[in-house]
Amino acid sequence: MSILLQDLDALVEQVKDDVVRWRRYLHQHPELSFQEHETAQFVYDTLTSFEVYELSRPTPTSVVARLKGSRPGPVLALRADMDALPIQEENTFEFASTRPGVMHACGHDGHTAILLGVAKALASCRDQLQGEVHFIFQHAEELFPGGAQQLVDAGVMEGVDFVVGAHLWANEQVGKVLVKAGSLMAAPDAFYLTIRGRGGHAAYPHATVDPIAIGAQVVTNLQHIASRHVDPLQPIVVSVTQFHAGTAHNIIPETAELCGTVRTLSPALREQVPKWMERIIRGITEAHGASYEFRYERGYRAVINDEEVTARVRDALIRVFGEEIVQEATPTMGGEDFSAYQTAAPGTFFFIAAGNRDKGIVYPHHHPRFTVDEDALPMGVRAFLGIIGSFCGPTA
Ligand code: NI
Repeated sequence: MSILLQDLDALVEQVKDDVVRWRRYLHQHPELSFQEHETAQFVYDTLTSFEVYELSRPTPTSVVARLKGSRPGPVLALRADMDALPIQEENTFEFASTRPGVMHACGHDGHTAILLGVAKALASCRDQLQGEVHFIFQHAEELFPGGAQQLVDAGVMEGVDFVVGAHLWANEQVGKVLVKAGSLMAAPDAFYLTIRGRGGHAAYPHATVDPIAIGAQVVTNLQHIASRHVDPLQPIVVSVTQFHAGTAHNIIPETAELCGTVRTLSPALREQVPKWMERIIRGITEAHGASYEFRYERGYRAVINDEEVTARVRDALIRVFGEEIVQEATPTMGGEDFSAYQTAAPGTFFFIAAGNRDKGIVYPHHHPRFTVDEDALPMGVRAFLGIIGSFCGPTA
């Protein structure tokens, strides 16, 4: 076992309070996607105070810190996202958001604080490092097209051999980390549909082409994709989430506007879904004399974890936590732009359980009362230090 791992308890202990303090500061000062100027500056200044990092700002609101070990070895990139959401916080704790309508409701404040803690701990034992660790503090995970792809385009993955990221996960009771090889998170695509009929007086429906009645058929038939076109063992979501039409009780409108989301874990299925959708839309609108405009917008790719890297990360986590704590993650239909890094280097994304029923930490991600159990923060530090020790430790 590497020296880095033997020192682990002391290293985590040394930064634990800082991590909680940083997380609370960030929670109080949330910034929306692509606007993380103060957050990035805070991260930059904190990293500067560790004195050993080579820092860069690939985009206006992101920060990358590099630490080179004394001996050659692999280059490991670790990623934290930093952005908040347009939500009015309803928590009343003392470090609740000070900014109306903006809130860290997904735990990205915790991700940033954890990675800062890892960077601080690593700075104190850099002589043991073989290879390089790159810390990617990423902007704009929550807003498509996302910060990850921008950072990949800016070259942050050049020379990186492995990439690892994590998400605090309030859906699971604190005290475990959840790992999974293969598909973990969905590709979150969006679609926009306009159905064009012929408006008129509601008392004379025969003289119109009613886009509401036709749209209702479309919504119903789109359900057949998940229930009848796709193997029941293949995860998929096709949801219509908006349906806007009409202005009055006695007018049949000219158009109906619909939009929604499609989520898939399989890249092959993802290719197929818009074709099925358009066939259904075309068939129904034509059958009733309407026309349509259909736009399908591809979101982030699915998070598909590399088998080998995941196995190594799982082993590293078992070494620092024990078998009990390291469990198999259940895939989720949520999306994550971490997938952009995985196109540039093999990598894995895992979950750090952060919910706690006993403390009332039960609200889902993106809820106005979302929070994380801060006991998960030192677990995150421990996890990442264990992973660094395994990939870039002295005996690795
Ligand atoms: Ni998130």
